[in-house]
Amino acid sequence: MYFPSYRMRRLRTSPQMRELVRETDLLPDRLIYPLFVSHGENVRNEIGSMPGCYQLSINHLVEEAGEVAALGIPAVVLFGIPAEKDEAGSGAYDEEGVVQLAITALKESLPQLLVITDVCLCEYTSHGHCGIIRDDYVDNDVTLEMLARMAVSHAEAGADIVAPSDMMDGRVAAIRSALDSEGFINTPIMSYSSKFASAFFGPFREAAESTPEFGDRKSYQMDPRNGDEAVRETLLDLEEGADIVMVKPALPYLDIIHRIKQETRFPLAAYNVSGEYSMLKAAAANGWLDERRAVLEALTSIRRAGADMIITYHAKDAAAWLKE
Ligand code: PBG
Ligand code: ZN
Repeated sequence: MYFPSYRMRRLRTSPQMRELVRETDLLPDRLIYPLFVSHGENVRNEIGSMPGCYQLSINHLVEEAGEVAALGIPAVVLFGIPAEKDEAGSGAYDEEGVVQLAITALKESLPQLLVITDVCLCEYTSHGHCGIIRDDYVDNDVTLEMLARMAVSHAEAGADIVAPSDMMDGRVAAIRSALDSEGFINTPIMSYSSKFASAFFGPFREAAESTPEFGDRKSYQMDPRNGDEAVRETLLDLEEGADIVMVKPALPYLDIIHRIKQETRFPLAAYNVSGEYSMLKAAAANGWLDERRAVLEALTSIRRAGADMIITYHAKDAAAWLKE
């Protein structure tokens, strides 16, 4: 087993040899592209901290989604930017809300493209928190009713998968029972089961205009220091009926991805979040990194850690590179 009878470099001698022994694949059909749907018409605003990503009104969203589908990416996840926000986040469960209308438009023009929807109130509340505020605290149980209504409204509009990202306790069970009682027994729930209170969400909050007006999200999102707790959060979501679980962010949490895959064996999504994207984009723009190699290496490492699918703002670029 030792040198010189074994030489690890023997299997690295050519690209063909390396392909034969590679352990991890990265293919476009494992990628999910996030899209920001804006109210208004003919909106196409590039997001300052996320070059290449835009707030899009429905006409441009449909165009963009067409490009995504043509690249072999099977799914998008939608975030809404409503015209108005209020204390109760009522735009979130409005039948004529931005996301509801966008789902209908997408399913009409691109029926094969899977539409996943983010289920959370923060883009719709005037205070920017992920739930309803009672006595300066995000009230868990009242919020559950809103989330369930939101998920049902997405399913009614034609969403293929609903993805709660709020981190309220009991939301998966509440959403499952609401979907079932409305007849949506086949609509899967992709739960953001271990979502950490992360600095890497910064650019997203600019994109979605959802920065909390006061305080932070640490009373509901997880403490980055905890791994056992991430496993428990995930097991609870599975007991409540989650079909797909998630770890978010991805790169600073590869150990969590690995553990959750090992402990659950359920389909696992990793969310390569906005800040992870912005870091590579900024370094590449400065000429400090080879963007293509760095992005494909980062995404491959997320797959190697154990993610089945990756939600990433790099999806379009990566899919194009992988096709070449
Ligand atoms: C909303 C939500 C957030 C993200 C996805 N859904 C932001 C947050 O919790 O502040 C972050 C995504 C990203 O950073 O790319 N709950
Ligand atoms: Zn939220």
